[in-house]
Order: sequence, then structure tokens, then C-alpha cells
Amino acid sequence: MTATAFDELPFLGYGIGLRRTHFDTLPAWLERFDFFEVLSENFMAFGGRPREVLRRVAAARPVVLHGVSLSIGSVDPLDESYLDALSGLIDEVKPRWFSDHLCLSSFEEVDYHDLVPLPFTEEAVAHVAERVRAVAGRAPVPFLLENPSYYIAYRDSEMSEAEFLREVVTRADCGLLLDVNNVYVNAENHGYDARAFIDALPLERVAQLHMAGHLVLPDVIIDTHGAPVVPAVMDLFRYVLERTGPVSTLLEWDHDIPPIDVMARELDAIRTAGREVLGDVAPDGVVGGEEATTWRR
Ligand SMILES: [Fe+2]
Repeated sequence: MTATAFDELPFLGYGIGLRRTHFDTLPAWLERFDFFEVLSENFMAFGGRPREVLRRVAAARPVVLHGVSLSIGSVDPLDESYLDALSGLIDEVKPRWFSDHLCLSSFEEVDYHDLVPLPFTEEAVAHVAERVRAVAGRAPVPFLLENPSYYIAYRDSEMSEAEFLREVVTRADCGLLLDVNNVYVNAENHGYDARAFIDALPLERVAQLHMAGHLVLPDVIIDTHGAPVVPAVMDLFRYVLERTGPVSTLLEWDHDIPPIDVMARELDAIRTAGREVLGDVAPDGVVGGEEATTWRR
């Protein structure tokens, strides 16, 4: 896929992650959500009800896949069994695209269960870009890399985070999943200007946005995905949209997940902010919720 094609990916509107805790309540609220993001690892290994719910959701709404275990920055070989399982899920679900984080999450076959940042070096750019090309090349849908939050900085870094991100996605020729909350959290924690960071990115590659809440501690802000989006992140979201135009936007909530009505209300706040910038742009791909409202409990 060429660089210019990423900003031509469909605008899916405003969505949330598909979570087990909402399986029972989601059918009645489906019309409030334009698309769903599916954590690949949560569904790759499971059949039964999760797969059945996913099938029904995918019949009614566009779906995108999002992973946490690709470990694209690791020096271990790419995990072929993981990629095979991911390919199977892609074939079954037919997502519009799939994504993972610009980080490493395993080394010498030990899973860290954490997203470890990479040093911002030319060596890392070349290493990751080659691996992204290998992953993207075997999938029938586009691949996006997400900017992670991080809490350490490497002495060896040779460039800024924005330069690193630009170099990787440009050289890998992949899309960018821009997590707006991560930009805010990193800017606060590492002392840079969030708007200047956004201006330095290849915004023509942004195909999806993440919005989320965070936890403010006395000496650090933690990207928890466990709270409402704060006004400063909402302002940054408007700033991004003023430069990108319509971009599919997802509310991430992974801890202390609230009931579905609260998710709908929080997503409405994001949608309202988006409409302030974009006007009323119809999302692509919604095919009606009849299928989902009849699914079995
Ligand atoms: Fe995110």
C-alpha cells in the first residue's frame, strides 16, 4: 500500500473495544457504536461464545484487529505460530486493518506482558521496518503501528520520538495508529510539546486514533485506559482532526471497564468533539444492527 492510500482508508466513525463484560448488554446498545476494535489475543485462542459474538458483531459493524503480542521490536525471530493464528483470525473476521505497538514485548521467548519502548536509533528503525514489511506483506489488509506510552528513555537514542516514529512508518510503508492520550502522557512525562510532536508526524499515514483516560500521580502520568478522557486530551484530539480530517476514532477502556451505557456516553463526548471540527461526516460500513439484536445470551 502506498503512503497516500492510508489516509484514503474508510472513516469508520467512533467505536469501542469489544469486551466480554459487555457481551450481554451490547445488543441493545449496538446502534451507539459505529465500529469495534477486537484485541486479537482475546479471540485467537477461543472458540465458543466469544467467537460467536465476534461473528455477529462483525456482521453488523466494521471491525479492526489490535494486538499486543507481536513484539515487532524484539530481536527474537517473528513468532510464526502467533502470525498463523493472527492470519486465521483475519481470514475469519475480515477486519478493515490490523495493528500492534511500536515496541517489544518479548525477548528470548519470555513474554514481558508489558510494552517496552525501543531506543530511537537508526539501527532500531532498520530492524523494525524490515519486520513490519514481513508482517504486512503476508496479510490481505493494511497494517498500522501504534505509538506506545513509555516511562524510560535510552541514553543511546539518536533522534526524537517523533523522528523515530516518522522514520519507521515511512520506511516500513505502514499506517499509523495515533494514540492521542499516549501523545499527551509522553509529552507530560518526557517534557516535550504535544502539538509540535503531532506536527512532526507523517499525518497522511494516520488511519486510526485511540482515545483513553490516564492516572495522574505526583511524579508521573500513567496510561491506564481506566478513566474518562480528560479535557486536555480532547483538545489534542481536535488539534489532530484539524490537520487530518476524518479519522476512525476508538475509545480504549481496558481496566475498571464501565457498563455499556457509560461507554456510549463517553464515546458521545468524543463524537461531539469530532463533529465540532469535522461537521457531521457519515461513517462507512454500518450495515444495521438486526443481526446483533437477535444473538443468543
Ligand atoms: Fe492505544
